[in-house]
Amino acid sequence: MDFFQYKNGVYHAEDVPLPAPAAAIGTPFYCYSAATLERHYKVFSGHFSDMDAMVCYAVKANGNLAILKTLARLGSGADVVSEGEIRLALAAGVDPQRIVFSGVGKTAAEMAFALEKNIFQFNIESEPELRFLSDIAKAKNTKARIAVRVNPDVEAGTHAKISTGHKESKFGVAMPEAMPLYRLAATLPGIEIQGASVHIGSQLTSLGPFAQAFARLRAFAGELRAESFAVKTLDLGGGLGIPYGQEDPPLPAAYADIVKREMKGVGCKIIFEPGRVLVGNAGILVSRVIYVKKSGERIFIVVDAAMNDLLRPSLYGAYHDIVPIAAPPGDAPTELADVAGPICESGDVFAERRLMKIPEAGDLLAFRSAGAYGASMASTYNARPLVAEVMVKGGQYAVVRSRETYEALLKRDTLPSWLL
Ligand code: LLP
Repeated sequence: MDFFQYKNGVYHAEDVPLPAPAAAIGTPFYCYSAATLERHYKVFSGHFSDMDAMVCYAVKANGNLAILKTLARLGSGADVVSEGEIRLALAAGVDPQRIVFSGVGKTAAEMAFALEKNIFQFNIESEPELRFLSDIAKAKNTKARIAVRVNPDVEAGTHAKISTGHKESKFGVAMPEAMPLYRLAATLPGIEIQGASVHIGSQLTSLGPFAQAFARLRAFAGELRAESFAVKTLDLGGGLGIPYGQEDPPLPAAYADIVKREMKGVGCKIIFEPGRVLVGNAGILVSRVIYVKKSGERIFIVVDAAMNDLLRPSLYGAYHDIVPIAAPPGDAPTELADVAGPICESGDVFAERRLMKIPEAGDLLAFRSAGAYGASMASTYNARPLVAEVMVKGGQYAVVRSRETYEALLKRDTLPSWLL
């Protein structure tokens, strides 16, 4: 459930009519609803309030400071994958003891920074990484608390580019190689074994793969304990899908049932790393129609947002609902149209042959479900400044990231002496 809806024929974010920020700051812009975000966090975490659970929001989904602070104030931790994300989480007030550090390519500098900040856990993805972390921790006279990310070899049944738990994936350590890695970890001076973790993919729309992965992790935890290794935490990763269009992903309640079934009596802290399910439907991208172009049989609605602002349709063929900000008359005819951005690539298309009421130049449209992996994956391709971001709370809104200026864009480059 989200708080974007029509009131008197005008699309609102909570109580803010979207033409208001559009007039004030121009388009395109991302708009987040604080009430939706808070609701999603409370629903998700509420299902685990009777357990020793820690929800660590996956910052990569959307690292805007206002999003992070909203979640941190509700008690959220952070799942981070870079020093930049650690810095963002700390800046938003996330307790370092609620930060877990994931990722296959942590650098020495990042590990050192994370150790200095005394983060809760490193999720380790390989033997060289484990040895490297031990050396860095030892040099600092400390120990890094670790969980090995095991690869449970399950098919997540999601898009190939966001599926991570099968055995050919670059992520995690194959189950048969994981136990020897724990034996090694136990001998390394800079390492303290704390638990184990899994993450099998993103935008999962069925529970079966989760159940399989959790069962395998649980069995593995038993083997670890049989060898007297500490299992104080089991990290179940993220991945719960959201409805973008017609799909019908499991509700957090059903996901929680699976977790509770598989983790019953496990006797340790359970960590979650949800990203999309918290922010995905708490954000939209608002854009203005520049031209409506007819070409042969086709109708192209050319908008001022592009693939650099919201990459998911071009990269994954992802579906995003597109809604007009001013509701067209109910009897307006629908036609098949393509919605495209101005970038010079044929892949810069948000929707192909979508049945819709054809807008006019100047009309505002919203791409729904753009809160996760929207702004965080944006680039300045085609020298397009990063768009503004706005957060709404009730009847008020605030700019939570200013539109990048052309001056800032131009200032990024410097000339070598021979060109001065
Ligand atoms: N934990 C780890 C270790 C992850 O790699 C991810 C996402 C998450 C948690 C959060 O997953 P979520 O709950 O958001 O599904 N750009 C893609 C999604 C990439 C996901 C990468 N990892 C997209 O736009 O669909």
